[in-house]
Amino acid sequence: MEENEQIRFWRGEFGQHYMGRNAPDPERLRALTRFWGRILRRVEGAPPERILEVGSNVGNNLRALRQVCGAELFALEPNQGARERLASDGVVDSEHIMNGHAGAIEMDDGAVDLAFTSGVMIHIHPDHLGQACREIHRVTRRYVACIEYFSVEPEQIRYRGHENVLFKRDFGGFWMDQHPDLQLIDYGFAWKRVTGLDNVTWWLFEKRS
Ligand SMILES: C[S@@+](CC[C@H](N)C(=O)[O-])C[C@H]1O[C@@H](n2cnc3c(N)ncnc32)[C@H](O)[C@@H]1O
Repeated sequence: MEENEQIRFWRGEFGQHYMGRNAPDPERLRALTRFWGRILRRVEGAPPERILEVGSNVGNNLRALRQVCGAELFALEPNQGARERLASDGVVDSEHIMNGHAGAIEMDDGAVDLAFTSGVMIHIHPDHLGQACREIHRVTRRYVACIEYFSVEPEQIRYRGHENVLFKRDFGGFWMDQHPDLQLIDYGFAWKRVTGLDNVTWWLFEKRS
């Protein structure tokens, strides 16, 4: 799939600056470790052994996942600086770090047990969202998790002075409408006031035929 305006935005200068704001500081990692501990409790009967984060940036989620499970971790990230930081910090083995984007994931069908996005679907243009979901759905054997900003109606939001790079919607509904084989395991809201996370809504699905 062709690179589009939104992906170029993240590969470029904006993506470099974002890395600075998204540093893996201890407080953020503690909050994410608590969060992922809660999510993985929903699947403790059959925990994922291979996990892919699509749009990992410097790997804050993956660092937290390391604390709460022994799964093999994979990262897909279009921004080069973020990939370098992931590798130099040893968050993910270098051969498990992929340059690319959600619309064309270079992995086999069912290559991982859980594939997830966190703050990434919001940056995919609505015209490309269906393809991104198809790819994520294709590469996961079992679970899909989605952690994003929610809006009942699809809307475009101005993001740090930029237009056309942030889109909110009911991503859980989008997933279920596009892929009816997905069964909802659980969903929730990570309220900033108590979790330290950014008022995000999350969904956890399992593929069932
Ligand atoms: C807001 S950051 C979230 C980073 C990380 N998931 C987290 O929760 O800390 C969005 C990340 O997604 C990446 N990204 C943007 N568009 C993408 C796409 N179409 N496919 C995969 N990653 C993308 C960006 O480079 C950036 O690292």
